[in-house]
Amino acid sequence: MWRSMVGLSWKVPKWIFESLSWGKSFKNNPLLGNSFLNRCGLHVIRVILAHLLFRFRLLLLSPLVSSEDRREFIRNGYLLKKNFLSQAEFQRLTKELIELKAPVREVIEGTTITQRVFMDSTERAKTPNFQRLYSHKGLDRLMRYCSSKNRPPLFYIENLCNHANVTPRPDPQRDLHADTFHPCVKAWLYIDDSSDTNGSFVYVPGSHRLTWRRLKWEYRQSLEACKKGADRAPGRYWDGSFRVSTQELAEMGFKAEKLSVPKNTLIIGNVYGFHCRGRALQKSHRMTVWMQARDNPFNPLFTPFPRSTALLFEWIWKKALMKIDSRKTEGGEQSNYFGTFNRAKSVMASKILESE
Ligand SMILES: [Fe+2]
Repeated sequence: MWRSMVGLSWKVPKWIFESLSWGKSFKNNPLLGNSFLNRCGLHVIRVILAHLLFRFRLLLLSPLVSSEDRREFIRNGYLLKKNFLSQAEFQRLTKELIELKAPVREVIEGTTITQRVFMDSTERAKTPNFQRLYSHKGLDRLMRYCSSKNRPPLFYIENLCNHANVTPRPDPQRDLHADTFHPCVKAWLYIDDSSDTNGSFVYVPGSHRLTWRRLKWEYRQSLEACKKGADRAPGRYWDGSFRVSTQELAEMGFKAEKLSVPKNTLIIGNVYGFHCRGRALQKSHRMTVWMQARDNPFNPLFTPFPRSTALLFEWIWKKALMKIDSRKTEGGEQSNYFGTFNRAKSVMASKILESE
């Protein structure tokens, strides 16, 4: 009794804090997953408020980018820029990333092995061409604007190994979904061409906008996500990244688009809009510089110190990653190694094959 009281006294403030910030899990947070509160509109109110504040911050940050970029991002939910770097810069960067020796985190999603390196200041110090990309003025301004947070994002290198010879696991990336309840961005600079062979990024243009139909869908989803026990359908996602069916998409008046792009293309997407990783038809690879910027959606303002705030976020995230690492590697969900990206066969694949 005393123990559970102590546990609760720690958990309740955490649940309240999450509800007032980026918390999204209907399963882990009983406030967000409370069916009475959601019937009264808790989820929908959070969605609306987060969107209003996002648009307010975008307005304040509008001098950072051109009016064409602003219009495109606000209309479609994503920006696409081909030939982003000069040919020479891109070739130097590609060579550097393929040869990079760094701590690689590897997970299996479906039959895909996803390898990632977190490009913090330590890794950047070893990679002058990547550091130049990190300091690229155009990229910096676009990311500070599109995220609405005025700070550079977290940077990763991501290498996908499609149709790897592994025991398949559930793949959360292949169904159309919104990442969370509020606007936030992810971005990719393609090191490989993307096509049906290695799986293009799929986005639903305009689905980032808060229409009346989308709001009604959000409300229905929130009630569904509150279900407990036997009512909770297996195979659904209760973490707040709602999946959307083709029929629901058509009812909302949307159509998915496959963004097959040549290498050296930059895509910045508002991942409140529906998106997914397109299917790869063949055994293949796809490498990208992957960027992510997610922050408290209810903070009406943004940092006046972009670089130092980015470094602080990077430091905090590195600590968090180390904790996540030990949990996931112990649970067998993730494998870590130091070395290059394996563009032929992954370490986890060989481990699994050895144990079979
Ligand atoms: Fe996503």
